[in-house]
This record gives sequence, structure tokens and C-alpha cells, in this order.
Amino acid sequence: MSALARAPLQLMNTHLNMKGANESAKRKRASTDPIEKVRRLVHRYHEKAIPHRAPTKKEPSFDISKTWDSDPSWTSWTHPGTHLKYSLSLMSARRLSSDDFNTCYHLIEETSRADYEASTTGWKSVKKIAEMKSPELRYILVKNEEGVVRGFTSLMPTYEEGEPVVYCYEIHLASELQRTGLGRLLMSFLESVASHTPPIKKIMLTCFLSNKGALRFYESAGFTKDPISPVPKKLRYGREFIPDYAIMSKIVDSSKAVLGPAPS
Ligand SMILES: CC(C)(COP(=O)(O)OP(=O)(O)OC[C@H]1O[C@@H](n2cnc3c(N)ncnc32)[C@H](O)[C@@H]1OP(=O)(O)O)[C@@H](O)C(=O)NCCC(=O)NCCS
Repeated sequence: MSALARAPLQLMNTHLNMKGANESAKRKRASTDPIEKVRRLVHRYHEKAIPHRAPTKKEPSFDISKTWDSDPSWTSWTHPGTHLKYSLSLMSARRLSSDDFNTCYHLIEETSRADYEASTTGWKSVKKIAEMKSPELRYILVKNEEGVVRGFTSLMPTYEEGEPVVYCYEIHLASELQRTGLGRLLMSFLESVASHTPPIKKIMLTCFLSNKGALRFYESAGFTKDPISPVPKKLRYGREFIPDYAIMSKIVDSSKAVLGPAPS
């Protein structure tokens, strides 16, 4: 589950439903592919309906390509069981090809759709695709020798409750890559980014409480429940709010960074 999935997206829906957008949609040939249809709506939302968010002075500097380039061990990985080689690449959401984007989307569906559907969040493809196309998101793609994405993580440096953090939006591996240590490797890159991007000192993420395997994975990587994680609450008329997700975080100690100090 990602950060934005928790946020109200009425603004996005307003823009997606804008009269102008609908009119221009009518002028275009109707798509028979539902994913393509949603992608077109999202594209208009990001590219036309609102201007891109201009970086503010408060934004953390975010040149994670320096961290990436500084260690060649990020760019390839060998499966410990099959000994097949995989390539890892870093790119922004804007540069993802349609094929890679679709494969990432389907990986989320494959590994986590059931968790979304069982939650109060629900599975909302338009919102999910719009979120995945957020221009500030960076992706690390894990591709097999045929160049097909078999796993990915996405991340963004942002402010959470006023605190600069690296937010891990997604991490999804195809079944043949799970429990191979790859997840841990990808998280160690996020950790490296956080420790080399002042003033960031924290990594955050959101996880459904039903996803016990992922919770164990994050705990084993040193994540704990963040103080802003929702807690059960008594509501009016005897109703109760019981959260179905946790916000987890890990403080990153830059003195223990995997790599040397960030280039100035
Ligand atoms: C969650 C995920 C990214 C973890 O990556 P991974 O490569 O499978 O995990 P690793 O092999 O690096 O595991 C590291 C440690 O985490 C713990 N761990 C990982 N998966 C676990 C699981 N399913 N159950 C219990 N512990 C687990 C273990 O302690 C493990 O160490 P060990 O293998 O030496 O015992 C991956 O399994 C995945 O993509 N799952 C499906 C998608 C998903 O749930 N994403 C998270 C959404 S919030």
C-alpha cells in the first residue's frame, strides 16, 4: 500500500471529470482496453489538467542517481537459486515505457490486489495508475534476461507531517524472486538514498496489516510502527475505527550508510 492511497484524491477526480477532459475524450477514438482508457485519463490529469508541481525551496534535494551511479552492485543481481541474471535500473515515472508500466501495474495486482480488496481502501485502478505516474516517483526495475520486469520498487522523497522522508510507495516481486534476498537489497538502496539526501533521516512506508509476510519483511529490515500510524478509535454512535494498515518507518543513521558520504 502506498502513501497516496491514504490521501483523499477528490482533486484528482475533479480534474479527471473535468468537462474539457470529457469533451476531448469524446473526440478521441474510444479505447477497448480498460487499462489504456484509464491511462489516457491519467495522462490528461498529469500532463494537461493541472500544471506540474513546481519544486519548492523546502523540497529535499533529490539527485538519487548519484547514489545509484556510485555503486555498480546496484545494477545487476543473480538469483541465488536459479543463478539467472537480472538487471536493475533506476528511472523516473515519466521515463517508464508503456510495457514496463503495465507490467509493474500487473505485478501490484498479482501480489496485492486481494489485500486492497479486503481493506477499506478497496482496489481503485484509476487512483492506483494516477499515483504510479506521479512525476516525482522514481522506479527501480528488476528485469530478467529477456528484458521483462519481474520486480520493482518505487520511492519518493517527500514531507510527511512536516518531516523529510524517503517514502517507499511500492515493492513487489514476482513469486520466483520472493525470499531470495532481493527485497532486502532493494530496501538497502532506499536506505542509502535516505542517508545521502540531507535533511532526510527516515524511510517510511504503508503496509496492510493483513500482509503478514511483508510486515515480517519490514520488521526484519528494522522498521517499526511510526508514531503517526493510525490506532483504533471510538467513534460516535458506538462505532469504532479499526485501522487495517500500519505506517512503518526506520530512522537512517548516515554514519552507518552503506556508501561513503554523498558528493557535495
Ligand atoms: C515483501 C517482499 C518485497 C520481500 O522481498 P523478499 O525478497 O521476498 O524478501 P527477502 O528474501 O529479502 O527477506 C528478507 C527477510 O525478511 C523476512 N521475510 C521476507 N518475506 C517473508 C515472509 N513472507 N514471511 C516471513 N518473513 C519474511 C525474513 O526474515 C527474510 O529473511 P530470511 O529469508 O533470511 O528468513 C516480497 O516478498 C514481495 O514482493 N511480496 C509480495 C508483494 C508485497 O507484499 N509487497 C509489499 C507490499 S506492502
